[in-house]
Amino acid sequence: MTTDLLTNAPEVEAPVFPPRPPRQGRPTPHISSMDEYKKMYEQSIADPATFFGKMAQDLLTWFKPFGKVTFGSFKEGNVSWFLDGQVNACYNCVDRHALANPDKIAIIWEADEPNQHVSISYGTVLAEVSRLANVLKKYGVRKGDTVAIYMPMVPEAVYAMLACARIGAVHSVVFAGFSADALRDRMLDAKCKILITADQGKRGGKTIQLKKIADEALAECPSVHTVIVFQRTGDAAVPFHPPRDVWWHDETMNQRPYCPCEPMNSEDPLFMLYTSGSTGKPKGVLHTTAGYLLGVTATTKYIFDLHEDDVHGCMADVGWITGHSYIVYGPLANGVTTILFESIPTYPNAGRYWELVDKHKVTSFYTAPTAIRALRRLGDEHLQPYNLDTLRVLGSVGEPINPEAWMWYYKVVGRERCAIVDTYWQTETGSIIITPLPGATPSKPGSATLPFFGVDVAVLDPQTGKELVGTGVTGVLAVRSSFPSIARSIYDNHERYMDTYLKPYIGYYFTGDGVTRDKDGYYWIRGRVELDVINVSGHRMSTAEIESALVQHAACAEAAVVGIPDELTGQAIVCFCTLKTHTAPQATDQTLLAALTSQVRSHIGPFATPKRIVVTPDLPKTRSGKIMRRILRKVAAGDVGEEDVLNEDVLRLKLGDLTTLADPGVVAALVKRVATSQ
Ligand code: WTA
Repeated sequence: MTTDLLTNAPEVEAPVFPPRPPRQGRPTPHISSMDEYKKMYEQSIADPATFFGKMAQDLLTWFKPFGKVTFGSFKEGNVSWFLDGQVNACYNCVDRHALANPDKIAIIWEADEPNQHVSISYGTVLAEVSRLANVLKKYGVRKGDTVAIYMPMVPEAVYAMLACARIGAVHSVVFAGFSADALRDRMLDAKCKILITADQGKRGGKTIQLKKIADEALAECPSVHTVIVFQRTGDAAVPFHPPRDVWWHDETMNQRPYCPCEPMNSEDPLFMLYTSGSTGKPKGVLHTTAGYLLGVTATTKYIFDLHEDDVHGCMADVGWITGHSYIVYGPLANGVTTILFESIPTYPNAGRYWELVDKHKVTSFYTAPTAIRALRRLGDEHLQPYNLDTLRVLGSVGEPINPEAWMWYYKVVGRERCAIVDTYWQTETGSIIITPLPGATPSKPGSATLPFFGVDVAVLDPQTGKELVGTGVTGVLAVRSSFPSIARSIYDNHERYMDTYLKPYIGYYFTGDGVTRDKDGYYWIRGRVELDVINVSGHRMSTAEIESALVQHAACAEAAVVGIPDELTGQAIVCFCTLKTHTAPQATDQTLLAALTSQVRSHIGPFATPKRIVVTPDLPKTRSGKIMRRILRKVAAGDVGEEDVLNEDVLRLKLGDLTTLADPGVVAALVKRVATSQ
């Protein structure tokens, strides 16, 4: 483990922004002072069973009350919550609201084209989810079966997730930007028998050939016997292969609009979601029913400060954890209106988000720093036509938000009247774990501030694993004891779960992120400590996965991938490749570079497109053959110039110890190649 990322200290004298008092006619925040937060936080740590036992009774509707609130430990890897209780996530997100108020709007779908939106009531969601649940049952899906979902951002994607939850099937949503290979690998790993997909997707005016991609993946997934295809565009040219393929509209039309909810034990799996780790093989992070549901319900309520008539606009995709927790389960469990946004922030222009906020009277808005940075760069004039007065809370997620972007969000979007919540969490934590609370926490731009209830945070020395106590410390971020929404396992690979999260520091959950606790006890997330996981525009990917895509190209002998800092996307991907038969003209051959790029796009997906591919005669290696990525990262980031290689001392200063390099001459060649390649 290297500690490169741990060196940039937080701004010691960061400005502090106290919470804004509620404006006239706006609700009083659920938690309205630091004292209240502190008191509740202390209770949640001192006596989690009482704290979360009460919360679970207050926020969720149970079919059967739970007995013991919490059992197991990080040491044993047997974490469990709300034992013997029975609950259904779909019932909590849909039925209980539909029964009380069927006409209340559950989902506002804002389609790719700006003049198209649909409001869907809780009553309608109940009927649509039920119909699909009955279709799934008809095709043999039973409690515990896994169902793959590869859908664009349409309400049917949400119905598909909830229909699975309703009958106790475990959904595995694969982001619709993933390639055929990635979809195939995930369906095989999860042993899916059913896939729910769409003919095509729409995004930013472009059409995505989902069914075609799915067909490619399915060619190597013989266990999938049924594919339910939703018609998003109705394009007649879309391939369709009965009897395996069935149309969503044909099937649902014939089913009754009610299906009973399966009573699920608290610890029954709700879903899995694949995420990148330090090897090339993605892991199916497994979440269970009650703990996850409570975690997302509570965090959505308190962090976005949701009240009865609120409209929550989370701009993520349901294919990522942010979409699962803060588009689907969290807002719906709270019975508010959730926005489902099919498009992108710059289509048809950079005012799209703000038009959406204005039109749908959004009260809490949630996006990623990369989008905030891009919109800031495109200019404030895009906000001017719109009334953003309904906004109270502005959230950020996915990567550290730089203070400039934070200030723009606060001043230009929030008009200095909204709370900014920089929310830190992970696919594995299920819900937000470090965050300000709108009515309570004074904010510092760039800091995710303080832990949420029940999250017992520790900063560890990366080498010794000892806790770094007190303030002004930097180390790796870990959690001391379990909280309800923490992932319970990796699908079919509990050993990998233990090895990745619970064994690096025995007794702790290891987040993989570096962190500083500043003089006020505030947390500043520093990014991943394992440098083989990179974060591009808030998307987590592993360098090994990209390398394995590259070496599958016929011309590529070896590949090494590194992340470099990028102003817009946080980090960007730079690939170094050696060729099987390397000749000078081939090395900068545009066709070859394009082919290597497309290799990555088709193996993983367009969101993993490298910023730069450098074809080089050799890679820097130790005598034992290990690639020295530290050198590659510095060279890729432009930290070493052509003149530097002439001076050994300068080189050592910039690149560190080079004595372990098998061939010291390789550095000069690399630097030259980077300087001359585009
Ligand atoms: C990073 C996304 C700094 C972090 C919810 C984490 C953040 C990884 C923040 C998880 C934040 C997420 N500040 N870094 N507010 N939020 N991260 O699983 O490195 O896609 O480990 O979950 O994103 O990414 P994942």
